Amino acid sequence: VSSTGRAPADVLIDGERIVGVLEPGSRLLGTDVAASVDRVIDATGKYVIPGGIDAHTHMELPFGGTAAIDTFETGTRAAAWGGTTSIIDFAVQRYGERVQDGLAAWHEKAAGNCAIDYGFHQIVGGVDDDSLAAMRSLPDEGVSSFKLFMAYPGVFYSDDAQVLKAMQVSRDTGMLTMMHAENGPAIDVLAQQLVDQGKTDPYYHGIARAWEMEEEATHRAIMLAKLTGAPLYVVHVSAKQAVEQLAWARDKGQNVYGETCPQYLYLSLEEQLGAKSDEWGSFEGAKWVCSTPLRSREEGHQDAMWQALRTNDLQMVSTDHCPFCMKDQKELGVGDFRKIPNGIGSIEHRMDLMYQGVVTGEITLERWVELTSTTPARMFGLYGRKGVIQPGADADVVVYDPNGHTSIGMGKTHHMNMDHSAWEGFEIDGHVDTVLSRGKVIVDDNAYLGAKGDGRFLKRGLSQYLI
Ligand code: URP
Ligand code: ZN
Ligand code: ZN
Repeated sequence: VSSTGRAPADVLIDGERIVGVLEPGSRLLGTDVAASVDRVIDATGKYVIPGGIDAHTHMELPFGGTAAIDTFETGTRAAAWGGTTSIIDFAVQRYGERVQDGLAAWHEKAAGNCAIDYGFHQIVGGVDDDSLAAMRSLPDEGVSSFKLFMAYPGVFYSDDAQVLKAMQVSRDTGMLTMMHAENGPAIDVLAQQLVDQGKTDPYYHGIARAWEMEEEATHRAIMLAKLTGAPLYVVHVSAKQAVEQLAWARDKGQNVYGETCPQYLYLSLEEQLGAKSDEWGSFEGAKWVCSTPLRSREEGHQDAMWQALRTNDLQMVSTDHCPFCMKDQKELGVGDFRKIPNGIGSIEHRMDLMYQGVVTGEITLERWVELTSTTPARMFGLYGRKGVIQPGADADVVVYDPNGHTSIGMGKTHHMNMDHSAWEGFEIDGHVDTVLSRGKVIVDDNAYLGAKGDGRFLKRGLSQYLI
C-alpha cells in the first residue's frame, strides 16, 4: 500500500535497502526471485506499508520540574512495537541556554540508545541575537525545522517580536517554522482565575485553554508568517476553528500546514470531566492533560479533525508523545491543575489508532499511509529514503494484518515507560505483525528482536512539501 494506491507485490530487500517492488512471482534475469533469496516473509492477505514516521515526540522533555519518562531507549522501542520506524524528536533550548548546547544535549541522550532511526527539530525557547545566529546553521546539521511557543510564558514562550525575528530566519534559510499556537498570556490569566475560584481539577485545564485561544494564536502565527514569508507548520491542532484558519490561509496560497494527534480524534473534554477512579478520584482526568487540550465533543471538534484529514486541511498525524506517570509526576498537580505536567503517551499506538479510522470508514487505506508515513517524510525532508516503498529507499517496512486484533492497555499492549495508559480499553481491528528497520526484522510475531543502538541519526533536508 502506498499513499497513491495498492497492488499485490513482492518487495525485494538487499541489506538495508529496498531494491525492487515486483509483480508477485516475478523472475529477474531468468531466475525465480522467491527461490533465490535468503528469507521470505509471507505477507499474503496482509498490508505491506512503509514504516510509520512520528514527527512529533518528546523523549525526556523537561516540564514542570520533572521530565517526560520515556528515554530514547524505551520510547523508540515502544514505537517499533507499534510499527513506527522513524521519529523526529525535539531538541530543547531553554532561556539562558545556547541553541548549540541544547542540540548537543539531545544528540547525547539519543546516540546509541535508539531502536529506530531518529531526527531532531529544534525548540527555540529563548529567541535573542545569539540564538537567531545559531539557528542559521541548523540546516547544515540536518535539523531543518524549529518550534516556537506562543504558550507557556516563563518557560518556552516567545512574544510576537521574537516570533517575527525567528520567522525571518525561517524565510531566509527555508527551515520550517513549527508553532505551538495558543495565547499563553491570556490562558494564564484564565487559569489563575479558575484556581482562585477553587476550580483546580484537571478538567479546568481544558476550560482555561479555550478554543478561542487556539484560533487567535493560529491566526496570529499565520499573519506573521505571511508578513515574513516563512513556511508555517502548526503542531497539535485540536480546535475546528484553528483548522478553519489554516484552510483560509492555504486557500490564499500560503505555505501553511498542520498536524493533529490521535487524542484530538478520539478523546474529549466531556470524557475527561467524567473520568474518576478509586485511586485518583476526579484527579483521574490528569491522564489526559495535554496542550492543546482535549476539546468538547458536543462542539464537534473531533469530527472536524477527521474531516480535515480527509480534505487535506490537515496533512499529518503525529503523537506529540510526551509521557508522564501519574505517580510522582502528574500528581504534582493535585489541587492545582496548572502544575500537572502536560502530555500524553501514544507513540506505540498511532499506527493502530489511525488504522481503526480505516476500519470505521473515516479515512482510506492509502490516506492512512499518507498521514502516518509519506507526508511526514515529505514535510520534514526525509522522502525517498523514508515514507515510501520503492527501490533505493531504506527498508523500513511494516506488515500489517487486517484480520489481527490489538487490545490496548496496561498488561496488554503497553511498552511505554508509564504507569497508566491514556488509551486503556481501546480495541483495534488490526495488528502490527512484522516490523523491519533498514532491513533488520525488529518485531516479528509478537517478539522483539531489535537492540538499543540499531537506530541512527537522520540528517534531514529541507521540506519537500512546500509550494
Ligand atoms: O501537552 C503537551 N503537548 N506536551 C508537550 C509539549 C508541547 O507543547 O508539545
Ligand atoms: Zn506544543
Ligand atoms: Zn509537543
